[in-house]
Amino acid sequence: MSSNQELSPGVMKYIKEAEKIIQERKEYWNRMKKAKFDTIAVHGLYSIEEAYNKNQGSVIEPLYLSSSQCFKDSDELEAALAYKIPAWIYTRIANPTIYYLEQTFALLETYGTDLEASACATASGLSAIFLATEPFLIKRTRKIDEKINFVATIQCYGGTYQLFNLRRMEERGIEVRWIKDATDLNEWEEKIDENTRFLYGEMPSNPQLGIFDIEEVAKLAHEHGVPLIVDSTIATPALLRPLVHGADIVVHSLTKSATASGYIIGGIIVARKNIVTNIDNDEMRENFGEWVKLWPFRDYGPCLSPLNAIFTISEIKTLRIKMDHFSRSSMKIAQFLESHPKVERVDYLGLPSHPLHKLAKKYFKLVDSEDENGNPVNRYGHLMSFNVAGSAEDTRKVYDNLKLIFRATDLGRIKSIATIPAISTHQQQGEEARKEANIPPQMIRLCVGGEDPDDLIKDLDQALNSI
Ligand SMILES: Cc1ncc(COP(=O)(O)O)c(C=O)c1O
Repeated sequence: MSSNQELSPGVMKYIKEAEKIIQERKEYWNRMKKAKFDTIAVHGLYSIEEAYNKNQGSVIEPLYLSSSQCFKDSDELEAALAYKIPAWIYTRIANPTIYYLEQTFALLETYGTDLEASACATASGLSAIFLATEPFLIKRTRKIDEKINFVATIQCYGGTYQLFNLRRMEERGIEVRWIKDATDLNEWEEKIDENTRFLYGEMPSNPQLGIFDIEEVAKLAHEHGVPLIVDSTIATPALLRPLVHGADIVVHSLTKSATASGYIIGGIIVARKNIVTNIDNDEMRENFGEWVKLWPFRDYGPCLSPLNAIFTISEIKTLRIKMDHFSRSSMKIAQFLESHPKVERVDYLGLPSHPLHKLAKKYFKLVDSEDENGNPVNRYGHLMSFNVAGSAEDTRKVYDNLKLIFRATDLGRIKSIATIPAISTHQQQGEEARKEANIPPQMIRLCVGGEDPDDLIKDLDQALNSI
């Protein structure tokens, strides 16, 4: 970025004009900060003024499919490419439709607080994880043999495991130190040293529903001068907002519950301003979300399609209602499964029998809800897993007999979906790693959709009774 002294009066004129736009956006951001969650989800930063001043009065956020933006003259072009005025330039860098999505998510993830945050939408959840972590893995001394490590929960999505274990550790020699018991603070602490760059955890994890105490782990991370990065895909901001509990960066696969429709692949990074890091880069520390978008994201290129952004914008308008409905159905189904003789074990955070239920109760709450005593209502999302009481073959039989619930590796859908993680999402990480992550071949992962739970129960019952 060039300093303003080097810019011509023509370019400076555009920078001056842009101050008004920046101020208007700031004012609208501040206005929306005071709105309730559903209002933010519905409106985001797409104001009435934005609609009639800039978008021909379009009530719903418009879809900008154009890959690039044109400029009035060379001065405006120069100001835009120097990142000195609000501009989008080229969809790999930014795009108006994607901007509305990013701003909405930043507002939702910091809801109910005066935290400031910025966001960067990406082509997939995995590219969000890649981009949120990669900037911390640079060689600080630029020496070839510099040692670098990061600490992560072993209970995580299979793709994340492969990224960390194969691509980072085996191919690049960046050590991943796996946390086996994420609730054990001592284990976290023992694994951190002066070469640690960040702590990473999935909350809750897919498929085992592993969780950890975000507040405690964030405190520990900060004591050691590193950030805590949380994948909160399964919870969505309707149930959990890790930044509010002290995390520095949140990543999501938008592919999942955020867009229950199942039409898109996408991801997003949301970072609080002024993250904690031991990387010497003030711009990155002060505004990670914006910095990552302007620089590494631009250079690696995993941009979201604007079409996928508009689907996501549309879906998140009803996020809270959907997560409430999915969670209530899931609770009913989990209780049914728990009492079924052909089921050996059910893992659902909402069940009092779950060993982590107490900790889950602390974190998973439906935003803007109230029970009869004025307390927030716990909701635990729509992911669960259960182990069939039988062999791996019996498990496949139960699975193959499902008639309403779809067989797929997906989750977070409006349609209920089941998979056997050991032969699908977690197949490639091998038996040893599956054992460590507690994924036996009898486990069926179920993600409950919007169907009537009684119909789902009937389907599960007949499938279980086939063995
Ligand atoms: C918790 C979690 N994070 C990240 C991802 C990766 O997301 P995507 O498939 O959008 O790349 C997944 C995919 O299943 C996931 O379950």
